[in-house]
Amino acid sequence: MIDMTASDIIVEMPGGGKPILNQVSIEVTGETIHGIVGMSGAGKTTVLRCLAGTLPPSSGLVSHAGNNIYGPGTAAFGKGRVADDVALLPQNPPATLDPRVRIRDSIIEPLLVTGIPRDEALSHIEETAFVVGLHPALLDRYPSGLSGGEARRAALARAMIIEPKALLLDEPQSGIDLPSQLELLDLIVQLSKSEKVTVVIVGHDLSSLSSVCTDLTVLDEGKVVESGPAERVISTPVSKAARELVEAAGI
Ligand SMILES: Nc1ncnc2c1ncn2[C@@H]1O[C@H](COP(=O)(O)OP(=O)(O)O)[C@@H](O)[C@H]1O
Ligand SMILES: [Mg+2]
Repeated sequence: MIDMTASDIIVEMPGGGKPILNQVSIEVTGETIHGIVGMSGAGKTTVLRCLAGTLPPSSGLVSHAGNNIYGPGTAAFGKGRVADDVALLPQNPPATLDPRVRIRDSIIEPLLVTGIPRDEALSHIEETAFVVGLHPALLDRYPSGLSGGEARRAALARAMIIEPKALLLDEPQSGIDLPSQLELLDLIVQLSKSEKVTVVIVGHDLSSLSSVCTDLTVLDEGKVVESGPAERVISTPVSKAARELVEAAGI
């Protein structure tokens, strides 16, 4: 688990104009499942990428466990890679699996990149597959041989194999039916506990996220319009954007 903070981050639009993020601040504390919610185009993916370290903000600070990853004096500034101890699952998780490579090899790849020998990397795979509920028989298949839900579990295994302290997920449940969505979100809650991983999850639909998140940050047009404990935001939304999300979810 790890505390992650973004303070007053601004992300300029390439070529100028209204910034994509305008003075966004988010505080994610270790033992939480933090939802970043808002309409399409609100800036959710951009915030997640800044928190993960893959997108340097134009200004402001991003810190993990009290250390700046972006901000004055940070060596990583501008490198644009995922920060140590963090796994980022981009939107459409199955796309992270190379169609020409067996699931087993896709899952261990992030370990190989760190220089761990293949044999040693393979020794971790059964446990990781178990943790994400992926049947071991599926490891020998190619991505085309998996269902949508199975492919998401495989992508999750690929994210979890490095034993990250934080898992950042961009709309992981979109594109699958509601029962599979709830199953996947339930798995993410389990992972947060069993693997002691801090979870940040982006979504535009509160109907499935409301029961999962402990904290919510609501974005609208590149700004934070509301944040707090999920229960409070859902029961008494203050901002127009939060009210609309709660109404649309029918909760
Ligand atoms: N690289 C980029 N170039 C131009 N516009 C961008 C870029 N990235 C994001 N945007 C714009 O910024 C806004 C927020 O994008 P995004 O963070 O993807 O929103 P969300 O994930 O909430 O849908 C959108 O209007 C999007 O079109
Ligand atoms: Mg997005």
